[in-house]
Amino acid sequence: MKQYQILVIGGDGIGTEVTEWGKKILEEIGQQFGHQFTFDTALLGHSAIVATGSPLPEATLHKARQSDAILFGAIGHPMYDNDPSLKVRPEQGLLGLRKALGLYTNIRPIKLFDELLDASSIKPEILKGADILFFRELTGDVYFGEKARKDEGKTAYDVMIYSKYEVERIAHKAFQAAQKRRKILHSVDKANVLESSRLWRETVNEVGRQYPDVQLHHQFIDSAAMLLIKNPKMFDVVLTGNLFGDILTDEASQIAGSMGMLASASIGDSTGFYEPIHGSAPDIAGKGIANPLASILSAALLLEHSLGLKEEAQSIVDAVDKTLKEGYRTIDIADVHTEKSKVLGTQAMGNHVLTSLRAIVKTKFELSTY
Ligand code: IPM
Ligand code: MN
Repeated sequence: MKQYQILVIGGDGIGTEVTEWGKKILEEIGQQFGHQFTFDTALLGHSAIVATGSPLPEATLHKARQSDAILFGAIGHPMYDNDPSLKVRPEQGLLGLRKALGLYTNIRPIKLFDELLDASSIKPEILKGADILFFRELTGDVYFGEKARKDEGKTAYDVMIYSKYEVERIAHKAFQAAQKRRKILHSVDKANVLESSRLWRETVNEVGRQYPDVQLHHQFIDSAAMLLIKNPKMFDVVLTGNLFGDILTDEASQIAGSMGMLASASIGDSTGFYEPIHGSAPDIAGKGIANPLASILSAALLLEHSLGLKEEAQSIVDAVDKTLKEGYRTIDIADVHTEKSKVLGTQAMGNHVLTSLRAIVKTKFELSTY
């Protein structure tokens, strides 16, 4: 039996509530498919600041490096949002870990489960069939460029910076993914204004020559933001920088029905990191109503990308699909107009997915013995 070491970092707010379910689904996969997962936990973000004074304690970094993969929840707390003068902030923990682990590729799959066509505020006919894979660069850009104040604090700047090497390595990943899909790649930048975007575009063109079977398009960020809502089906793989990717993928969450559904994989040179794209949602934290599906789907991405367990990952996606087909919804994806949704809290929703998973694996194994 293979052993896998998984580090679970719940983080802040609903992060801890939903990550519990990502972990439970992994345990169930272990039982059903005969893998052994060993779990450890660590602190990050606000909860780490409260406990240790640091948003990224040394112990967390050490455990992260020792693990095969990390399942993460969310970070953030409203006290920082209202006080920009605070020097130690939860986000530093997440950004520090991304940098320390070299997690330069953030993969965000946007795919609508058909049952959720009505949960989005976009018309169903625009959405149906949309399936986009975002490649967001995660360790460069304005996030990590020099930032400072001058003129006695009255002027501030954040440098948007990319090196050719940084663009190349993620571009290769995006082109390779496109080759396995519909072979269309949109690279998003602001090359009409920004020098770093001109380097981005130049480099993507160069890398693209090695993938002649992939159709490469360049799109400015402003028009990409518009087209994403106007005609999401035109996109297959989207490659973009850290800041543009941050914004576009939140927008794209509406194509998937809700932020509560979207998982992401951050990969790089070593340990992979898996997290919902939603935040810590302090307004609903502790109420038991958060949607656990993004964490459950993050566990599926973990199995696929870090452990190479594709069949196991697919079983989780099928279990989520089955649960939705049966009409179960958390409040964020409930169809408020028809009352046909069976609205559940976090625990009940998580348990339904576990039940669906057991049923799916049972059918799979029964079929394979005939
Ligand atoms: C995300 C988040 C983070 C980011 C924040 C919490 C630093 O919004 O993962 O998209 O901006 O990258
Ligand atoms: Mn974001």
